[in-house]
Amino acid sequence: MIPNLQGIILAAGKSSRFNTGKTKLLELLCGKEVIFYPIEILKKCEIPITIVLGHHKETIQPAIEKHFDRTIQYVEQTKPYGTGHALWVTQHEWVATTILVINGDTPLITASLIQELYQTHKSKNAAVSFVTAHNTDPETGYGRVVTIDDQLQIIEAKHFKGDINQHCCINAGIYLFEKSFLKQYLQDIIPNNEHHEWYITDLIHIASKNKLVINTLKAPFDMVRGINTLQELWTAEQIKRSELIKHWMERGVRFIAPQNSIIDVSVSIGAGSLIGSGVHLYGNTTIGNECTIKEFSILNNVTIENNVLIKSHSVLENCIVKSHTKVGPFAHIHTNSIIEQQGTIGNFVELKATTFGTGSKAKHLSYLGDTMLGKKVNIGAGTVTCNHDGFTKHKTHILDGAYIGSNNTLVAPITIEENTFTGAGSTITKNVPANTLAIARAYQINKEGYALKLRLKKTATSIATLQDGSEQSV
Ligand code: UD1
Ligand code: CA
Repeated sequence: MIPNLQGIILAAGKSSRFNTGKTKLLELLCGKEVIFYPIEILKKCEIPITIVLGHHKETIQPAIEKHFDRTIQYVEQTKPYGTGHALWVTQHEWVATTILVINGDTPLITASLIQELYQTHKSKNAAVSFVTAHNTDPETGYGRVVTIDDQLQIIEAKHFKGDINQHCCINAGIYLFEKSFLKQYLQDIIPNNEHHEWYITDLIHIASKNKLVINTLKAPFDMVRGINTLQELWTAEQIKRSELIKHWMERGVRFIAPQNSIIDVSVSIGAGSLIGSGVHLYGNTTIGNECTIKEFSILNNVTIENNVLIKSHSVLENCIVKSHTKVGPFAHIHTNSIIEQQGTIGNFVELKATTFGTGSKAKHLSYLGDTMLGKKVNIGAGTVTCNHDGFTKHKTHILDGAYIGSNNTLVAPITIEENTFTGAGSTITKNVPANTLAIARAYQINKEGYALKLRLKKTATSIATLQDGSEQSV
């Protein structure tokens, strides 16, 4: 914890350049909201946090509360009069001697950047510190750091008229202010545009005019990118994603085509695992060691143990897959299903709220819903559990060693006990006791020779029809 420091995150803006009608701060970036990242960094540095909310307050605050404890303080900026005004509305909450202010739309910042800014601020005994970065893109919308008549100032992009190459530093929107400085000078920010916006950046010019110590810290531009447009969100996400992929590569994970792998910040992958092209890994997905996730599979909140093979185009959500299991291709496992060790799930098999016992197999075209399978159960191709009677769901129990023939419908609630067989094409509606063969289908009748008779009958009819037709046409 850094003593006598408190953090203020500005999050009351309108997100007008986003053009979505929604707030940019709740857009997901590698699975977490944009606003999540600066909060997480301050939490990591153990800095007490105050967040300024205004536009979209009713959605932003609950989203933050989903991730973080209730120690975060909120202050409302009822009118969006700019970043300077957003700081102004927090003045009754200033308790520490040094105030850190961060724009809520800078998700790529790091804890070490904040720590370094604080250390240099203190060692220089500065009144004000702020982070800068090199950027000579004329299209960019950042405030530019310039010195005019020996006075340091930040000029916003829309007001900047100078040569970008000579003034190649932008303001990153991360500041440290001594409280005594703010108490004396914050009121001097005069709204300086047609919208009467208060610019926090004017404090730099004020400090400079008053010959106070100003400390600047240069950071890589990619670390301090702000997000004002959907394109900037996309760029920031690409950067974050490549950092994540690099992180897992360094820990022994092979990505076949990292450029088209999607991975959330909360995913973890074990050493020796291989991630195929086009794989999407979302939420709290955990993959063990020596696993292979083949092309175009999508995993969301999935726990995969060691040595698991997920074949291509499989979709897994909220489920657990235990070690030495094979799944797919084209499998769909979801809603708290558990596949125990050494399971085999083949193509076009769906498991919903199902526990699939150790060493069991369902290799083709099946639906198992609300089902408990024991060990070494075999599910024949085309098996369907009828778990819904139109009103409620019912459970199916299939005990150890049961062999379900192909194309069975198992009408729940039902229990099929140990070491049973069911005949292919059966509709099983009654419990099957252990060691039993159950057959439930219409009896087959073989009428010997009847096929020949049928053919002759058909041929005779065809000739008669032809003759009829030719007589009429004469
Ligand atoms: C701001 C800086 C610019 C800097 C850039 C870095 C100003 C005037 N300009 O510009 O110098 O280069 O950040 O990313 O500060 N907000 C409020 N209340 C308001 C307005 C904004 O809380 O009334 C919040 C926004 O939600 C956002 C942050 O302040 O999180 C920054 O606002 P934004 O409009 O994105 O500022 P920029 O134009 O990017
Ligand atoms: Ca911004």
